[in-house]
Amino acid sequence: MAHYNPRDRFFQKAKDEGFRARSAYKLDEIQKRFRLLRQGGRVLDLGAAPGGFCQVAAQAVGASGFVLGVDLEPIPTLPKPIVTWVADAFTPELLARLRTEGKAPYHAVLSDLAPKTSGVRSADEARSLALAERALSLAQEVLLPGGSFVVKVFMGGDFEGYHKLCKSVFKQVKVVKPEASQARHSKEVYLVCQELKPAPKAAEPKPA
Ligand SMILES: C[S@@+](CC[C@H](N)C(=O)[O-])C[C@H]1O[C@@H](n2cnc3c(N)ncnc32)[C@H](O)[C@@H]1O
Repeated sequence: MAHYNPRDRFFQKAKDEGFRARSAYKLDEIQKRFRLLRQGGRVLDLGAAPGGFCQVAAQAVGASGFVLGVDLEPIPTLPKPIVTWVADAFTPELLARLRTEGKAPYHAVLSDLAPKTSGVRSADEARSLALAERALSLAQEVLLPGGSFVVKVFMGGDFEGYHKLCKSVFKQVKVVKPEASQARHSKEVYLVCQELKPAPKAAEPKPA
C-alpha cells in the first residue's frame, strides 16, 4: 500500500487555493465529471466541517444558490450562500428543523460523514455504514424529484447491500474513487447517485 502523506499535493493545493480541506478536491473531481451541482441549486452537505465540500458546492451553485453545511463540530463562518448548523445527523430534530425553518427541499445531498475511528475495523465499518444509511434516508426525505446524492462509503462490511439499496432509490449509481481519496483511505469510495426515483406508492387497501 502506498504511504499516506497528509501533507501531499492536495493539501498544498488546498492551502494555495483557499480551500479549508484537501477533501474539497474529491468533490471537485466528482463535480467536473458528473456536473451534479448547477447554478442556483440548493445543496445539503452532511458532515461538512471544516467546510471544503461547502466551498466547492458554493462555487458551483453561485450567489443565487444555497448550501447548508451540517456537522457535530462548529464550522467557522463561510461566505454566502453557505449557512452552517451544528447538529447531529442522527437526531430526528434535524429533519424537523430543516422543514420548520424552510431549509428544504434540495437538488443535491452530499454526505462526507465519517465516524471517529476506533481502529477496530469491523466496528468502524459498521459505524460508517450507519452514517451512510442515515444520509440516504435524509436524502430521500429532502431531495426534489430527480435529485442527486453523493455519499462516502468504505468498501467492506455490507458495502454491496448499501450499493444495492442506493440502486433501488436512484436511477443511476456510480462507484467513484477520486484521486484525492488515496493511500490511507484505500477503501474509501463515493457513490454518485443520480435521478431520485419517485417514492413507491403505498399499496391500495384491498376491497373487503
Ligand atoms: C471527513 S470529515 C468532513 C470533511 C468535509 N467534507 C470537508 O470537505 O471539509 C467528516 C465529518 O463528519 C462529521 N460527523 C461525524 N458524525 C456526525 C454526525 N452524527 N452528525 C454530524 N456530523 C458528523 C465529523 O464531525 C467530521 O467533521
